[in-house]
Amino acid sequence: MAFGSNVMRVLFILMVLFAASAAKRPVAKKSAAPAPAPEAGEEASGAGGIFDITKLGATSDGKTDCSKEIQEAWKSACGAAEQATVLVPKGEFLVGPLNFSGPCKGDVKIQIDGTLLGTNDLPKYDGGSWINILKVENLVITGSGTIDGQGTNVYTKDPEAQAFPNSLVLDFVKNGTVSGITLLNSKFFHINIYKSEDVKVENLTITAPGNSPNTDGIHIGDSSNINVTGATIGTGDDCISIGGGSSRIRVTRVTCGPGQGISVGCLGRYKDEKDVSDVTVKDCVLRSSTNGVRIKTYEDAVKSITASNLTFENIKMEDVANPIIIDQNYCPEKVCTAKSKSKSAVTVKDVIFRNITGTSSTPEAVSLLCSDKQPCSGVDLIDVNVEYSGKNNKTIGVCSNAKGTAKDTLQALACLA
Ligand SMILES: *[C@@H]1O[C@H](CO)[C@@H](O)[C@H](O)[C@H]1NC(C)=O
Ligand SMILES: *[C@@H]1O[C@H](CO)[C@@H](O)[C@H](O)[C@H]1NC(C)=O
Ligand SMILES: *[C@@H]1O[C@H](CO)[C@@H](O)[C@H](O)[C@H]1NC(C)=O
Ligand SMILES: *[C@@H]1O[C@H](CO)[C@@H](O)[C@H](O)[C@H]1NC(C)=O
Ligand SMILES: *[C@@H]1O[C@H](CO)[C@@H](O)[C@H](O)[C@H]1NC(C)=O
Ligand SMILES: *[C@@H]1O[C@H](CO)[C@@H](O)[C@H](O)[C@H]1NC(C)=O
Ligand SMILES: *[C@@H]1O[C@H](CO)[C@@H](O)[C@H](O)[C@H]1NC(C)=O
Repeated sequence: MAFGSNVMRVLFILMVLFAASAAKRPVAKKSAAPAPAPEAGEEASGAGGIFDITKLGATSDGKTDCSKEIQEAWKSACGAAEQATVLVPKGEFLVGPLNFSGPCKGDVKIQIDGTLLGTNDLPKYDGGSWINILKVENLVITGSGTIDGQGTNVYTKDPEAQAFPNSLVLDFVKNGTVSGITLLNSKFFHINIYKSEDVKVENLTITAPGNSPNTDGIHIGDSSNINVTGATIGTGDDCISIGGGSSRIRVTRVTCGPGQGISVGCLGRYKDEKDVSDVTVKDCVLRSSTNGVRIKTYEDAVKSITASNLTFENIKMEDVANPIIIDQNYCPEKVCTAKSKSKSAVTVKDVIFRNITGTSSTPEAVSLLCSDKQPCSGVDLIDVNVEYSGKNNKTIGVCSNAKGTAKDTLQALACLA
């Protein structure tokens, strides 16, 4: 994951918020939309509270930039007193970065039935986001359409991927639903949920090549009461990652793979990070992913935080390389020193793995690798029966500094102290 880019994003958001609070919000009136004269049998854009981007002049050829028309539809819908809809009908629409800022006067729905194609004119994405929803309450995003980041054209050009935009970003959203749509080939994370509350993410399909860098399906940070349910996710990074400051996160009925699994973390990277608590991952299937369910914290964490009350249950593993893994020694940038190592500032406690079955593609079906300075505690393995699918070796559990209990669990996996 490219962290420089996330830091830049946070700075950018702060700048936008400052600008938004300094400037008086322009109140768009429906009549202000430069809608073309309605054709016979058609309604003008805005009729019935529906702002159809094609009626505002957007061309569905997948080549003409429609950012202006969609931005116009947003401005009108967000300024409408009644519930209003931004409609992306069937067809392909090429767009650059979109700024869907609130607060809105009434509730807004974004109905995506066609395909939004993210431009590959990279300098346009100076804010790190493609579709950025900011400070909106009571938001609905739904439809049978697709948000296509067109990332396959850029992944290989810059393997560091430092400045690529996330596809759909929810910042400071309160009470929202995102459902039904497909997200394809994001240049960076497909969905990033930040400082948001009470958001339901339902029935999504998220797809990117298994070798595409940093294409996390859904990343959640500094947010609470977020439910992700009924998703099919296969990408080149974590299917779902839950970062610092997250609480009351429920992930249910998700099928994940390829990808790096469902993760809590990485934790401990930033000085302002907050605790993670009350995370439930339930009724999921992990298929040929590199990890199943994982908790990862930086070995050289810069802030003391705690990840606690994490429950992973009713999970089926199918040929997963590391089905159950806690890694307190995560250090991908290889900058950890013996000194930083001794800090190990992230505490992991009260973690339940219950009813986890299926197969592991490596002998180590369970790895609970905690630090000696900060042992993991209250880790319970209950009904955990995952077996190595290969023939040349046997299933094992590897534990270091992990305290807890095992019950009704494959003997070879019960490595807890
Ligand atoms: C996004 O729109 C809001 C409100 O219209 C505005 O205050 C803000 O400056 C815009 N941000 C960008 C990056 O254009
Ligand atoms: C949440 O948003 C939905 C959709 O706009 C709305 O129908 C509902 O009333 C909102 N709930 C609350 C508690 O505001
Ligand atoms: C998430 O699910 C829980 C449990 O079903 C429910 O209590 C909560 O209201 C849900 N939250 C949202 C945002 O839908
Ligand atoms: C998600 O799919 C289920 C099963 O098809 C359906 O019952 C539910 O209404 C859908 N949710 C949304 C928000 O569309
Ligand atoms: C632990 O998490 C569960 C599920 O999110 C929640 O219902 C419960 O209240 C939490 N318990 C504590 C002690 O925080
Ligand atoms: C265990 O999890 C599987 C899904 O992997 C589910 O079908 C089964 O009902 C669960 N068993 C119990 C006792 O909850
Ligand atoms: C069996 O797996 C263990 C743990 O990964 C490894 O150390 C050992 O070399 C393997 N044995 C064989 C015969 O592959």
